[in-house]
Amino acid sequence: MHPRKIALVFGTRPDTIKLAPIILELQKCPRQFSVVTIATAQHRHMLDQVLKTFGIRVDHDLNIMQPKQSLASLTSRAVNALDAVLEKEKPDMVLVQGDTTTTFIGSLAAFYHRIPVGHVEAGLRTDDKLNPFPEEMNRRLTSAIAELHFAPTITAKNALLREGYARESIFVTGNSVIDALKIALQQDHRFSLRMLDRIVSQKKHIVLLTMHRRENWGKPMRGACCAVQRLAREFSGIDVVFPVHLNPEVREVVYPILDNLANVHLIEPLSYVDFAHLMAKSYFVITDSGGIQEEAPSLGKPVLVLRSVTERPEAVKFGTVKLVGLDQNRIYKTAKKLIESRPAYKKMASATNPYGDGKAAQRIVAILKHYFAFTKKLPSDFKIP
Ligand code: UD1
Ligand code: UDP
Repeated sequence: MHPRKIALVFGTRPDTIKLAPIILELQKCPRQFSVVTIATAQHRHMLDQVLKTFGIRVDHDLNIMQPKQSLASLTSRAVNALDAVLEKEKPDMVLVQGDTTTTFIGSLAAFYHRIPVGHVEAGLRTDDKLNPFPEEMNRRLTSAIAELHFAPTITAKNALLREGYARESIFVTGNSVIDALKIALQQDHRFSLRMLDRIVSQKKHIVLLTMHRRENWGKPMRGACCAVQRLAREFSGIDVVFPVHLNPEVREVVYPILDNLANVHLIEPLSYVDFAHLMAKSYFVITDSGGIQEEAPSLGKPVLVLRSVTERPEAVKFGTVKLVGLDQNRIYKTAKKLIESRPAYKKMASATNPYGDGKAAQRIVAILKHYFAFTKKLPSDFKIP
């Protein structure tokens, strides 16, 4: 049998981090698969950082990012550019990941060419169309198109079953973010910023902070920044490190409130290897990110999530993640307790791995081999320990 052509469509920081281990795994099987990498480059700099980290070569770079892009303009540029590439490449399958515009438009463009779609990280749901926005809708629409659903957990599989997707099309693989994290942490590391080496060696408590969600822009994000400002002023024994997302909507809120505080370090987005190592050295994390909610628990780091709902309930159940919402007072009080109370900290700081065992990419590639009839064997489901 001739190798099947698998096109992977990615474009932002998180979908590229999570597809990287799958690209690397597929490339190990040249007799079964030829791999085509298509980057929308919905993100430019933050995408290039990830490509460099994993040594991924891009076959088609659509370079669509524009400053302060609107959802509609981004969508139309992505679908047009992808249409032309899929017409040329005619892959046997398109793989997309997660819930970004690139994810949904990648699957829509494939559908227009009648190419089957495999959805990595399928079945995450909050059941609130507007939260997170537009990601909840992006993933629902992607599920409707996909032929294969790679669910990271049993909870995600059950959500897809509830919506009527065929049992035979859903596979519990674990989340490939844990594969990526293991790759990033496997070597000894020196930070690319000297200042981070200094901060880490000081042995103060590092509070790692990230924020970028569209539904938090403006007032909610301002409130969260004010909570952090209050914490930083009150506790000189903490160092807040905040690699600020490149979105101008975020930067315009963050800098006026958090710049010029001695123990708050606003820095540019870090390479994935730097970020993973910094997370491993941090005391706890405050974030509205999806991916970080999955990574930090596996390192035993408490996470305060700046959201009212989460599509990742597993680590909340295990106790490592707490939803604190966007109320300034609540964020301040919950973080203060983690800083002051060792028992409260210990209660949250236990390493749990509900999202994966680092073998998601292997499982996904094995499922693809089965789908294309290279093998009769299917891997067994990932089970949450
Ligand atoms: C996007 C995803 C979101 C994901 C997030 C991860 C959508 C609609 N949103 O949100 O689901 O959680 O990425 O970070 O798909 N920019 C740069 N350089 C970069 C990246 C971004 O300058 O490398 C700036 C540009 O001005 C760009 C803006 O950020 O227009 C917004 O980027 P966009 O991808 O539209 O939205 P995000 O908020 O990053
Ligand atoms: N990340 C990174 N550098 C940073 C901040 C985050 O590499 O400066 C990684 C992080 O480890 C995680 C991913 O980016 O894997 C999360 O991306 P983001 O928060 O932008 O998107 P989300 O996961 O919320 O969609």
